[in-house]
Amino acid sequence: MASHSLEVNGVVHHVEADQNEPLLWILRDAIGLVGAKYGCGIGQCGACTVQLNGHPVRSCSLPVSAVAGQKITTIEGLSDGDDLHILQKLWVEFDVPQCGYCQAGQLMSAAALLETNPDPSDEEIDAYMAGNFCRCGTYNRIRKAIRTAAEMKNSPAV
Ligand code: FES
Ligand code: FES
Repeated sequence: MASHSLEVNGVVHHVEADQNEPLLWILRDAIGLVGAKYGCGIGQCGACTVQLNGHPVRSCSLPVSAVAGQKITTIEGLSDGDDLHILQKLWVEFDVPQCGYCQAGQLMSAAALLETNPDPSDEEIDAYMAGNFCRCGTYNRIRKAIRTAAEMKNSPAV
C-alpha cells in the first residue's frame, strides 16, 4: 500500500492503495464516483473512460501510481455545476442512451473529441469513438449529438 494524491474534478483526494490498483476502482470505491463503469477490465470497451489532462483514457487499465498529480475528469465533473455540458443536453434531447451502461464513457470521449477537433466529420467521429462500444447500438444518435454540438459551438448565434 502507498499513499496517492489525485486531482479529480478539481478536488484533491489522498488515497491509500496498491501502486497497481486500477484508477477505476479508486474512483468508484475510494472516492465514490461511480459514473465510470466496469465493462471488460482490459481496456477494450470504453465503459470506464475518464479524461486524463483532457484526453480519454481507460481507467480500468491505468494504475493509480501512473496518474498521481495529474488532472482527472470523470462524468461527474463534465457539467459546470447544474449547467450541463452541451453534449449532455443533446444526449437528453436526442434520447441517446438505451440501457445507459456505456454512456458515461461515450460522453467523456465525445467531449475530449470536441476539445481537440471542434468540427469533426462523421468519419473523424467514428474513428475517435471507435474504442467506445455500445451493445445497444446507439452509435447513430451519438454521432448526431456530436455533430449538432459542433454546429452549435461553431455558430454561437444559432
Ligand atoms: Fe475499461 Fe472496458 S472496462 S475498457
Ligand atoms: Fe446500452 Fe450503450 S446504451 S451499452
